[in-house]
Amino acid sequence: MTLRKIARLGHPVLRTRAAPVGDPTRSEIVRLVADMIETMHDAGGVGLAAPQVYEPLRLVVALPVRPDPGGEVAAPLVIVDPELSPLDGEEEDGVEGCLSIPGLRGVVRRWRRVAWRGRDRDGGPIGGTADGLLARVLQHEVDHLDGILYPMRMHDLGLLAMDSELAHLQARMLSEGNGTR
Ligand code: NI
Repeated sequence: MTLRKIARLGHPVLRTRAAPVGDPTRSEIVRLVADMIETMHDAGGVGLAAPQVYEPLRLVVALPVRPDPGGEVAAPLVIVDPELSPLDGEEEDGVEGCLSIPGLRGVVRRWRRVAWRGRDRDGGPIGGTADGLLARVLQHEVDHLDGILYPMRMHDLGLLAMDSELAHLQARMLSEGNGTR
């Protein structure tokens, strides 16, 4: 496994619509998935999309949000050619950051619950539902596959802040109605 360089805001690969992966058992894809997981862990991220490591392919990895009931750390979720749809259309505001936009945080409105589907590393169909943080992470990562970065989703750029001012952002969200709409 190798740590990959993370593309930063302004690089055109982040604004590109990514292509379907094709056969995920190809050696270069197997290597890419392993590298993405290692790079995500190393950078302290909770999700990563292939375009962020300069590979414009429809592939995302995300950390499992809930610990395994057995106490073991569950493997990261790997979704090839992911697709999302809202479960009930309910939305909520939450704070996001992005490894491609270091140092900043912003408040983004996302669906609260999503259904996701795609393929696993062997190419078989997978799917499920997600809420809370995982739902947010999946929406953020799948946006990367369409060249969308979280500031482009923000309804109020006044809710963009430096990492060090995160507490102020959270206080403003609370004062503006619990972050749920
Ligand atoms: Ni991101």
